[in-house]
Order: sequence, then C-alpha cells, then structure tokens
Amino acid sequence: MSKPVQNDAAMKAALAIIEDEHKALAGVVYALQRLAHDVREDRAKPDFALFSAMLYYIDAFPERQHHPKEDEHLFKALRARTARADAVLDELQGEHVRSAQLVAYLAQTLVYYQGGAPRGREAFCAAVDAYAALVFDHIRKEEDVVLKLAAECLTVDDWRAIETAFRAHQDPLLRPEPGHEFRRLRRRIANLAPRKLQSLLHRDQ
Ligand SMILES: [Fe+2]
Repeated sequence: MSKPVQNDAAMKAALAIIEDEHKALAGVVYALQRLAHDVREDRAKPDFALFSAMLYYIDAFPERQHHPKEDEHLFKALRARTARADAVLDELQGEHVRSAQLVAYLAQTLVYYQGGAPRGREAFCAAVDAYAALVFDHIRKEEDVVLKLAAECLTVDDWRAIETAFRAHQDPLLRPEPGHEFRRLRRRIANLAPRKLQSLLHRDQ
C-alpha cells in the first residue's frame, strides 16, 4: 500500500480542479444572489433567461458531476484512510442530498415566478438565499476541513484515481463551447463576481 504523500503532482492537479470547480459554482451562486436581491429591491427587472442559464449550469455540472464525484471518489478514499473525517463527511453528504432538493425547488419557484404566481418573486428570492447559504458553508467546510485532511492522509494512488475521475468531465463554465449559452453566462458572472472569481472566469476566454 502506498504511503500518504504531500506535494504529489496528482494531488496538486486534483486539488486545483476541485478548487476551480468550487470557485465556478461560488461565482454563479454569488451572481445569482446579487441579481435576485436587485430584483427583490426593484432595482432591476428579472432576466429570466439568465436565471434559467444559471440554474441549468448548477444542475448540469455541480449537482450532477461535481458532488457525486466527491462522494464516490474523494470522500470514499478519505473514509478508507481515516475515521477523523467521518462526522464532517456525513454532514457534507447530507448536504449534497439537500442541495439537490433545493435546486429542484429553486427551479420550481423560478417557473412559478416567471408564470406570474402570487408572491412568486419572494418565493424565488428566498429559495436563492437558502441555496446560497448552503453552498457557501458547504464549500468552506470542504476546503477548510476535508481537502486539508485529504492532503494529509491520501496516497499517490488515491490522488491519481481522484484526478482521473475529476478530469473525466470538464466544468462547462470554465471551458464553454463557442456559441454556447454558458459563454454568455460566464461573461455576465465575470462582470458581477468579486475580483478573485473574475480572474478565474476571465481565464482562457
Ligand atoms: Fe465540492
């Protein structure tokens, strides 16, 4: 069995992918929450196409690719190497389930809002806030606790398997296809997001 390693190339590559995907998700959620606040305060009209593109991205990549890969590869490997992360991993896996439920609810409230439902705007904005609170806290725990423990405990083989799994699908916001809706979404988010997210989203444009 290989020993835990630090400064391994596969570890660095895997961590870089995971952290970039976190920044992309955080950028979309930050921008979504900001736009929802502007709409709620009557400072802007709702851009339903943009809201829909954001939800499409959140559902298509972070929910269907990023979270399941963490469960199946990163979390599984960490559980096999140490029991120290068990409590936080239980919490995070519960949040992956909750997150999918909140995204489904968010999509429903968006449709109701666009369809003119009474108090549709308030329900949508509240759903955005609930999802944003979960995402920001979730990413912070993953980065502050789980990735640090993983860097201490996982082996070279673990990191190679994790890197391979995470390389299998490219975050479509970080490398959007020419002409795809995500290219426009990325430009809009880059203009709204804080500076540290902008540098990521402006990369390779
Ligand atoms: Fe994550």
